[in-house]
Parts: sequence; structure tokens; C-alpha cells
Amino acid sequence: MSILFFLLLFISFHTPSFSQTPPKGFLINCGTLTTTQINNRTWLPDSNFITTGTPKNITTQVLLPTLKTLRSFPLQVKKHCYNIPVYRGAKYMIRTTYFYGGVNGVDHPTPPVFDQIIDGTLWSVVNTTVDYANGNSSFYEGVFLAVGKFMSFCIGSNSYTDSDPFVSALEFLILGDSLYNTTDFNNFAIGLVARNSFGYSGPSIRYPDDQFDRIWEPFGQSNSTKANTENVSVSGFWNLPPSKVFETHLGSEQLESLELRWPTASLPSSKYYIALYFADNTAGSRIFNISVNGVHYYRDLNAIASGVVVFANQWPLSGPTTITLTPSASSSLGPLINAGEVFNVLSLGGRTSTRDVIALQRVKESLRNPPLDWSGDPCVPRQYSWTGITCSEGLRIRIVTLNLTSMDLSGSLSSFVANMTALTNIWLGNNSLSGQIPNLSSLTMLETLHLEENQFSGEIPSSLGNISSLKEVFLQNNNLTGQIPANLLKPGLSIRTSGNNFLSPPAP
Ligand SMILES: *[C@@H]1O[C@H](CO)[C@@H](O)[C@H](O)[C@H]1NC(C)=O
Ligand SMILES: *[C@@H]1O[C@H](CO)[C@@H](O)[C@H](O)[C@H]1NC(C)=O
Ligand SMILES: *[C@@H]1O[C@H](CO)[C@@H](O)[C@H](O)[C@H]1NC(C)=O
Ligand SMILES: *[C@@H]1O[C@H](CO)[C@@H](O)[C@H](O)[C@H]1NC(C)=O
Ligand SMILES: *[C@@H]1O[C@H](CO)[C@@H](O)[C@H](O)[C@H]1NC(C)=O
Ligand SMILES: *[C@@H]1O[C@H](CO)[C@@H](O)[C@H](O)[C@H]1NC(C)=O
Ligand SMILES: *[C@@H]1O[C@H](CO)[C@@H](O)[C@H](O)[C@H]1NC(C)=O
Ligand SMILES: *[C@@H]1O[C@H](CO)[C@@H](O)[C@H](O)[C@H]1NC(C)=O
Ligand SMILES: *[C@@H]1O[C@H](CO)[C@@H](O)[C@H](O)[C@H]1NC(C)=O
Ligand SMILES: *[C@@H]1O[C@H](CO)[C@@H](O)[C@H](O)[C@H]1NC(C)=O
Ligand SMILES: *[C@@H]1O[C@H](CO)[C@@H](O)[C@H](O)[C@H]1NC(C)=O
Ligand SMILES: *[C@@H]1O[C@H](CO)[C@@H](O)[C@H](O)[C@H]1NC(C)=O
Repeated sequence: MSILFFLLLFISFHTPSFSQTPPKGFLINCGTLTTTQINNRTWLPDSNFITTGTPKNITTQVLLPTLKTLRSFPLQVKKHCYNIPVYRGAKYMIRTTYFYGGVNGVDHPTPPVFDQIIDGTLWSVVNTTVDYANGNSSFYEGVFLAVGKFMSFCIGSNSYTDSDPFVSALEFLILGDSLYNTTDFNNFAIGLVARNSFGYSGPSIRYPDDQFDRIWEPFGQSNSTKANTENVSVSGFWNLPPSKVFETHLGSEQLESLELRWPTASLPSSKYYIALYFADNTAGSRIFNISVNGVHYYRDLNAIASGVVVFANQWPLSGPTTITLTPSASSSLGPLINAGEVFNVLSLGGRTSTRDVIALQRVKESLRNPPLDWSGDPCVPRQYSWTGITCSEGLRIRIVTLNLTSMDLSGSLSSFVANMTALTNIWLGNNSLSGQIPNLSSLTMLETLHLEENQFSGEIPSSLGNISSLKEVFLQNNNLTGQIPANLLKPGLSIRTSGNNFLSPPAP
């Protein structure tokens, strides 16, 4: 078993300076054409963040305005990405909302199942089947670190996707620095499994009660109706839970164990971040042990009036989960619990080298009709790499092959391709590319260059002769002029130049 890391924090007694400013970030209402105000918060249309997909209106009645429209994506294209401007180094809560509304027609009564991706990390499968059958929308929430000036959010079609995927709403909200800060966000992200207010039965608690607009869903009928902790100060909790979650609890009035089957879903085997929140100001002592699936979790927790949180960073869970609170011998009262959060810990999928990404972006811009899935990270997640791109393994992810043979491309080949210095193969044959062949001498690993069956013009750069690794240069059936550089005629290099009517052999 891995090293388990937990911390216990007693909060301070000072009154929190509770700010009512809404969380910073973007609220994006997908598929709408206009900016809308909902509960005094601004929702933007999504057209400034994505270039693919089609806006659609839902014909079924929905209560939430954000569910009335969605953006739908053609199933055949494996990846579609939003590009969201972010503050580098900030921690974002990303929430995605899905309500199918039958937009794919009567042949597809159930919603498609597909993947959602943040940067190079496969976040989760989106399966809204059960919620949709109940007439509910579904939401997913995760916490990710912004490592660049943009973050990409992508929808991916997979083998189980049987009709066009879609998204209804997208929220990128900055979280306070201290939230979940024992997680190493440079290597991990967390995806929400459950966040509940125990013994509470009202509508979900969120902004303005939760200043970051996290959603605390009701869980379990309370046996005790009296709210026992009106004055909990939450500012000392690093995770800053809303004080409202301390107004209710689940607990035993007797000196007996409290067993909680929570979270309700059966969990896939993985590591989880767990935070449990307790507070009590009843006279007497409330001290108990906590165990998770029978495994000792925390000993002699004292649920004091000012509140206490116990959390684990990477706790292994699998299948159904039971939390047991057992009163200690010294306790005069039974155990209780106010709130809890469980997140799946995700290993980050990495990122393609920034130099390659910038160069490939320029190459994309010089093509008039680049492949439709060329958005988001070019290499990762591996199963979602761009059409025609293959990449190196390992931590430093480089682009090693650019192969767009017979893709019906027009436009030109940007000289920025020369910045992708790990390239070993460039295959662009049988397209309608025109313009000059750029200077590729910085591509010292290049082995094959296939530019045949295009409309490249100008001279063959003699700098090609300086690339010692080069084995194949195919340039036939273009419109090249001038002389073939003499340094390309050497043993070990196969060069083809036929069908260039104005090209002459090298000077003798
Ligand atoms: C929206 O803001 C206005 C003025 O700032 C305020 O009077 C109103 O109560 C707010 N409405 C909601 C739903 O918060
Ligand atoms: C969706 O509804 C809005 C407002 O009713 C309308 O302006 C827009 O054209 C509709 N969009 C589509 C794709 O039908
Ligand atoms: C989606 O969820 C439903 C209901 O839980 C399940 O029957 C179905 O197999 C899931 N689909 C996929 C592709 O996982
Ligand atoms: C989902 O649908 C069920 C059945 O219609 C309903 O009881 C429940 O309150 C809904 N849940 C949410 C979160 O809206
Ligand atoms: C988390 O944030 C709190 C409050 O700002 C700080 O005291 C603590 O040192 C931080 N912990 C880590 C691991 O960064
Ligand atoms: C909560 O605080 C207020 C003001 O500080 C005080 O009057 C009240 O008695 C406190 N309530 C409880 C239950 O401690
Ligand atoms: C609530 O009370 C019932 C009956 O006394 C008991 O069976 C149940 O375990 C209690 N639930 C909790 C969460 O304490
Ligand atoms: C609480 O946990 C400790 C350490 O595992 C154990 O020694 C003790 O017996 C437990 N107390 C109860 C009441 O289960
Ligand atoms: C490039 O793609 C073509 C057509 O798909 C294929 O025949 C060729 O082997 C590929 N070349 C490389 C270097 O992967
Ligand atoms: C060239 O590309 C076209 C599609 O753009 C394809 O139909 C044709 O078969 C390709 N020719 C060769 C020789 O591969
Ligand atoms: C390549 O990258 C360098 C910086 O690394 C930059 O100065 C240059 O403009 C880029 N483009 C080309 C075509 O070399
Ligand atoms: C090829 O180049 C010649 C001479 O530069 C030019 O006249 C001709 O239009 C070009 N043909 C094509 C198909 O680009």
C-alpha cells in the first residue's frame, strides 16, 4: 500500500471576513449566440472559444436557461476542443454540464457516451444515460492547474460513441490558493466523485453560500432536527467549506457507531482524495475513531465547536465505500459528521513540448484546410493525437512524424516546420501544396522528406544536403525550378525529381 498522508486542522476562532464577490473565471453557455445574465452572473456565448461544432436548440422544456442550447460535434472527428484563456499558475475548478435533449433525433433516444479531456489528460467518460432517463442534467467537476496561457477542454469520440457528442455549459472558475492544496497539482488533478452536506434535505448549497460556487448536494435524512453549530467559522479550513454545511449533520444520539454508505456509487479501483468535515458545540465530549471500509483512518477525533477537517490525499478505494465512526471510551456523546468530499486522483497526461506546439500551430495556419481534429494538444492523450502526427514516448513529448499523405490539402508549408527539431519523417505527398520548400537544415534527425505530387515551386534548398541523417528526398511531380543541388547526389540518399519541367540537373 502506498504512503497515506493525512492532516488534521483545527480552525481559528476569528470571524471570517466573508466576501460576496462571485468567483473569477468564465461561465460559458454553449450553443447560444448572445451574452446572458443569470442570477447576476454573466454567461458568455461559446463562439469565441471554439471553431468547430454546431450550435443547437433543445426542443424539450428545461428549467435552467443554460440547458436550452448546446454545441453538437460531428461524431466522425475524434476530438473537438475549446481553448480557454487562463491565468498561468492558477488552480481552476472546471465544471461541465450536459443535457442531451434528444438533439440527435428519434433514431438516437439515449444520449451518446464520449470522453472529456483537459489539456493532455483524459478526465473521464461522459455517460449521462441514467440522469437523462430521469429528466436530469449531469455535471462533472474537476480541479486542474493552468500551466500555460490557455487550457483546452475537449470532447472526444470513442469506440462507444454512437451519435454526435455535445456539451451544454462550461465553467472555468479560479479557486483560492489554499483549496485542496495538499494535492500536487503539477503532477495530478482531481475529479469530483461526491460532495455532500449530511443530514440536509434542501436544494444544493452553492454560490453565494459557497464563495467558489462548488455544489454541495443534500445527503441523508437527519435524525436530529436541531442545527447545532450556527457559529462555525470556516475561514480556517483550507478548503473553505460554506458555513451552511455545519448547520446539519448525520449522527447517533446514542453512544454507538454511525455507519455511512458513502459515496453511494461503487467506485473504480483508484486513489482518492477524501475530506471529512465535523463541528459540534453541544456540551459534552464527542470523540470517535474513523474507519473507511474497516481500515483505520483517524483515531480519537474530537468534534469541537470550531470545527475540524480530516483529509487523505491518495487513499485507495474500490467498490462500495463505508465510513464508520465509532465513539471512543472517553466520549460522552455519539459521533456525527457534517460534510464530505471525495475526488478521484488523476495522473496528468503530460503536454507536447511547447516549441513543437507553437511551430505546429504555424504549420496548421499555413494549410488552407488542416485536418478537423487538429485542436487541443497534438500528442496527448495518446489515443487522441492529431491525425498525421506521431510523437515520442517518455516525459518530454516531441513530434517525430508529420504524415499528411493524400489528405487533399492546399496552402503552403510554413518555415516554422523547421522548429520541430525532433522530426524524423515529413510526408506531405499527393496534395495541392504550393510555395517554396522551406530551409529544413535545423531538422538534424530528418530521415525522409516526401513532398511528391504537389505544386511546390522555387529552388530545391541546397541546405538539405547538410542533413546527414537524410535517406529519402521525394520531390517528383512538382513545379520546382533551378538546378538540383549537387550535394544531394550522394551515396545513401535516394532523391527523386522527375516531373518538374523546369528543373535542371546539377552543374557538372
Ligand atoms: C442582482 O443585483 C442587483 C443589484 O446589484 C440586486 O438588487 C439583486 O438583488 C441581485 N439579484 C440576485 C438574484 O442576486
Ligand atoms: C435557437 O433559438 C434562438 C432564439 O430563439 C434563435 O435565434 C436561433 O436561431 C436558434 N438556433 C437554431 C440553431 O435553431
Ligand atoms: C452508460 O451508463 C449506462 C447506465 O449505467 C450503462 O448501462 C452503459 O453501459 C454505459 N455506457 C457505456 C458506454 O459505458
Ligand atoms: C433527478 O430526477 C429524479 C426523478 O425525476 C428526481 O427525483 C431528482 O430530484 C432529480 N435530481 C436532481 C439532482 O435534479
Ligand atoms: C495550504 O494553505 C494554507 C493556508 O494558506 C497554508 O497554511 C498551508 O501551508 C498550505 N499547505 C500547503 C501544503 O501548501
Ligand atoms: C452565535 O454568535 C452570536 C453572535 O456572536 C451569538 O449571539 C450567539 O449566541 C451564537 N450562537 C451560538 C449557538 O453559539
Ligand atoms: C436514525 O434513527 C434510526 C431509528 O432510531 C436508526 O435506525 C438509524 O440508524 C439512525 N440513523 C442515523 C444516521 O443515525
Ligand atoms: C480507536 O482506534 C485505535 C487505533 O486503531 C484503537 O486502538 C482503539 O481501540 C479504537 N477505539 C475504538 C473505540 O474502536
Ligand atoms: C504515411 O501515410 C501513408 C498513407 O497513410 C503511409 O502509406 C505511409 O507509410 C506513412 N509514412 C510514414 C513514415 O508513416
Ligand atoms: C491522392 O489523393 C487522392 C485524395 O486526395 C486519392 O483519391 C488518390 O488515390 C491519391 N493518389 C495516390 C497515388 O495515392
Ligand atoms: C523558431 O523558433 C525561434 C525561437 O526558438 C524563433 O525565433 C523563430 O522565429 C521560430 N521560427 C522559425 C521559422 O524559425
Ligand atoms: C509552374 O512554374 C512556372 C514557372 O514559374 C509557372 O509559369 C507555372 O504557372 C507554374 N505552374 C503551376 C501549376 O503552378
